[in-house]
Amino acid sequence: MRHAGTMAQPPIEMTDLPSASTPDQTQTHAGCVILVTGATGGLGEALSRALARGGATVALHGRVVRKLEALYDAIVEAGAPEPAILPLDFDKADSQAYADAAAGIEKQLGRLDAIVHCAGTLRRLAPIEHHTLEDWMTTLRVNLAAPAALTRALLPLLRRAPAARVIFTLDTRGHDPKAYWGSYAAAKAGLEALVHVLADEWENSPNLAVTGVVPGAIASPMRRRTHPGDDPTRLRTIDSLLPLYQALLGPDGERYRGRIIDAQAWLPPGA
Ligand SMILES: NC(=O)c1ccc[n+]([C@@H]2O[C@H](COP(=O)([O-])OP(=O)(O)OC[C@H]3O[C@@H](n4cnc5c(N)ncnc54)[C@H](OP(=O)(O)O)[C@@H]3O)[C@@H](O)[C@H]2O)c1
Repeated sequence: MRHAGTMAQPPIEMTDLPSASTPDQTQTHAGCVILVTGATGGLGEALSRALARGGATVALHGRVVRKLEALYDAIVEAGAPEPAILPLDFDKADSQAYADAAAGIEKQLGRLDAIVHCAGTLRRLAPIEHHTLEDWMTTLRVNLAAPAALTRALLPLLRRAPAARVIFTLDTRGHDPKAYWGSYAAAKAGLEALVHVLADEWENSPNLAVTGVVPGAIASPMRRRTHPGDDPTRLRTIDSLLPLYQALLGPDGERYRGRIIDAQAWLPPGA
């Protein structure tokens, strides 16, 4: 329950979204180079495979080389364009590591059309007494500072793209924080602020569009860790979210610059 005097957050935008019945987007990314962070996670892996199926060259980011190589092999075996892998531990990376990552993408792939930020970590759901300084620092680094630093490092490449997109994956608890979500809620709130900051900074850069997506509850590894009692059959699937990300990466995505999109409101009932 909110205390008297607490200001309600404005609702996440739900109107004028790309339609959930948008036809198959799978061939719209041919020739594009798209970086997906957290490509070894639930959402990141599914999205990376879908984008590769659609003809994109995907730069797969993760922190465990073995997992990245397995995904690389699967994408190549499926006959999709050869991806690249970008191993980088966001909890340990410094400015030089981000500069090196950007230089590596430029050297290996020559261009970058989009970044989809899916990487994230949630250390614990608990009262603040149980959130150590180390928890705070890791969560803020991985969920907030890393996406900002990576976007900054890759900006020169994005500026050269004809229609660059940057999509941040947010969280309901960043928009509407509640007890026990601690550093995760604070980091995701910061990421939501970053969407607005970049939209404002890029107002006069017509080829740069930034959008935030709030997935809501989805059946994924992170959700299993935070809500072990959930019945996954009652949750939206990861796959049901993919057409939204694909639409935002496609020609219509520019219309959603600076917007925070509620994926659950966008999805058709029962998806
Ligand atoms: N699941 C939900 O219901 C839900 C709801 C709202 C928002 N979200 C957001 O959606 C995004 C994807 O969620 P998910 O459920 O797919 O999460 P997930 O399966 O836990 O995947 C998280 C990804 O982030 C990577 N990662 C974690 N710590 C890292 C670090 N220190 N350095 C580099 N990469 C790191 C993981 O790498 P490893 O494979 O090495 O662990 C993995 O690839 C997250 O940003 C999450 O906050 C999820």
